[in-house]
Amino acid sequence: MTTTEQTTTFPMARGACPFDPPPALRPLREHRPVSRVRLWNGTEAWLVTRHADVRAVLADPRLSADMRTPGYPLISPARAGRAGQDTPPFIVLDDPEHSRLRRMLISDFTMRSTESLRPMVTGIVDDLLDAMAAGPRPVDLVTAFALPLPSLVICRMLGVPYGDHEFFQAVSARMLTSASAPEEVAAASDELRAYLRGLVEAKVDDPTDDLLGRLVQRRVRAGELSVDEAVSTASLLLIAGHETTANQLALGTLVLLDHPEQAAELRDTSDPTVVVRAVEELLRLLTIVHNARARVATEDLEIGGVRIAAGEGVLASSESANRDPEAFADPDRLDIHRAERHHVAFGFGVHQCLGQPLARLELQVAYPALLRRFPDLRVTRDPDELDYRSDKVVYGVREVPVSWGSAGKGSRRSPDPVAHSAA
Ligand code: HEM
Repeated sequence: MTTTEQTTTFPMARGACPFDPPPALRPLREHRPVSRVRLWNGTEAWLVTRHADVRAVLADPRLSADMRTPGYPLISPARAGRAGQDTPPFIVLDDPEHSRLRRMLISDFTMRSTESLRPMVTGIVDDLLDAMAAGPRPVDLVTAFALPLPSLVICRMLGVPYGDHEFFQAVSARMLTSASAPEEVAAASDELRAYLRGLVEAKVDDPTDDLLGRLVQRRVRAGELSVDEAVSTASLLLIAGHETTANQLALGTLVLLDHPEQAAELRDTSDPTVVVRAVEELLRLLTIVHNARARVATEDLEIGGVRIAAGEGVLASSESANRDPEAFADPDRLDIHRAERHHVAFGFGVHQCLGQPLARLELQVAYPALLRRFPDLRVTRDPDELDYRSDKVVYGVREVPVSWGSAGKGSRRSPDPVAHSAA
């Protein structure tokens, strides 16, 4: 393994602005775009920080996403806890296993099938906003809106009882805390799997018309998918389906409230392009699935002119790529009219986020609806004093106390410009 004199510790600390990635990424991207970093357990890996190089890494089949491949960079104790799973989820498998499992879900996540969920998503958004308007102020936006929305959506889609949300949200939180001891993460993962195994097995005898029910009836019964694999897939979808969108929604709202003119534009627009671009811009700016995508070289190769040897770990920093001035003009500025869509907040290559049409749908409905219902929405604490989740696999904010002038002042069933354009 090649070692240079300058080795940075990874992950890096965030700076004063909670919406920006760690400041130490910028000089690396400018001067040493492929550099050595040292991880918590003393091992080293390559950190890749430029947009073009990050995409090259994520598109290269010689870089494995399989946690079991020797040299895979485990960036936290929590990752180490997940590395020992018997049937890993396909996000950490390589082809052909990865594509075999992913293919079984593709029809549920096309733009078209996701679009059919729009009435359900809009209904949930309206109900949650009604409840907020009727309840006391200030209220925590995370527990009242940002977390229940994606949790309800993914539960209905998968066929998981929402009544169990306190259980699965708490278990996911334990699994996704970077500093959790490996044994703690493994125990939490086992608990979630035992719960999902019960659901999957029940759906074998008692068919249900939901994603897990169909997976069981069409694939498990046909012998194309084992129960263990179905459980693993269910666990991945349940966690990815609620943790990510919830944090994007809460943190994105904070950013919008910090940019009142752009928030007002998003609130008042009837142009679907403005909504679509605003959501992409918030995804790019925040890149909540932070701390880089982990891969390991299975052959000697070169990235950005640097030789990487087989067996060396590579960390592709999407949060740095999304702030690369070579890829985005004035990258640290929020610009809801930005037209470029090549951000890597959903990853890139074969592991690119399967749920991105669903996440986009939820965010495109939720941000404008929230701003319309509460046109004078405000955070009641200094955003600098809020509790940000730098210690989690998914970055975000734990609590956002908000208030507004007069309940129900904004319009209830607000027009959804994107729905109208899609109709
Ligand atoms: C704002 C919301 C979201 C963000 C920022 C996000 C981000 C990501 C990223 C960066 C990856 C790539 C990981 C890698 O390359 O190692 C990924 C993969 C994935 N995401 Fe998402 N995600 C979001 C929402 C969702 C939702 C709502 C679902 C599903 C219900 C979902 C399901 C998945 C799955 C299944 C994968 C694995 C894909 C594969 O390995 O082929 N995600 N996501």
